[in-house]
Amino acid sequence: MPNMELKIEKIRNGTVIDHIPSGMALKVLKILDIDENVKTTLSIGIHVSSGKLGYKDIVKIEDRYLASKEIAKIALIAPNATVNKIKDYEVIEKYTVTPPSEIIGIVKCSNPACVTNAKEPISPEFYVISTNPIRIKCKYCEREMEGKDIIQNII
Ligand code: CTP
Ligand code: ZN
Repeated sequence: MPNMELKIEKIRNGTVIDHIPSGMALKVLKILDIDENVKTTLSIGIHVSSGKLGYKDIVKIEDRYLASKEIAKIALIAPNATVNKIKDYEVIEKYTVTPPSEIIGIVKCSNPACVTNAKEPISPEFYVISTNPIRIKCKYCEREMEGKDIIQNII
């Protein structure tokens, strides 16, 4: 079987976020605040075939290493992702992502009546009540959110 990974070149230095659920790569970039003003080279694979898993997305960010907080955020939408730190073409560290215990300012509460959505809003905060699949609970109105509800409300 051909090595499908070779569709996207290996990088010399930087971060490879692998095993992202198919179609979620752009949300991962959003969570990392990466947009059209990016100053490092990015490679994005969307709906890449991935052996037994079927399909996945993959993001390669050259010359940037992620902070542990950023890695934790990725878990919100890609609970099975692996984050690989690359140096001189070698994987020098591999992390499986784990969600933070609290989420502050990343997701908006989906309850329109929540005080965090008021005219003079306060920053939304959630407890993570379960991981994989992730389920979060608003600290202010106690609304519980999961799945698409979370994804659609990423700020
Ligand atoms: N990778 C890369 N550039 C490098 C080294 C690795 O882009 N210089 C990518 C690989 O293509 C792969 C990911 O980083 O998508 C992880 O690399 P590696 O651990 O070598 O691959 P696997 O063993 O397949 O990883 P896993 O077990 O996590 O699936
Ligand atoms: Zn709320």
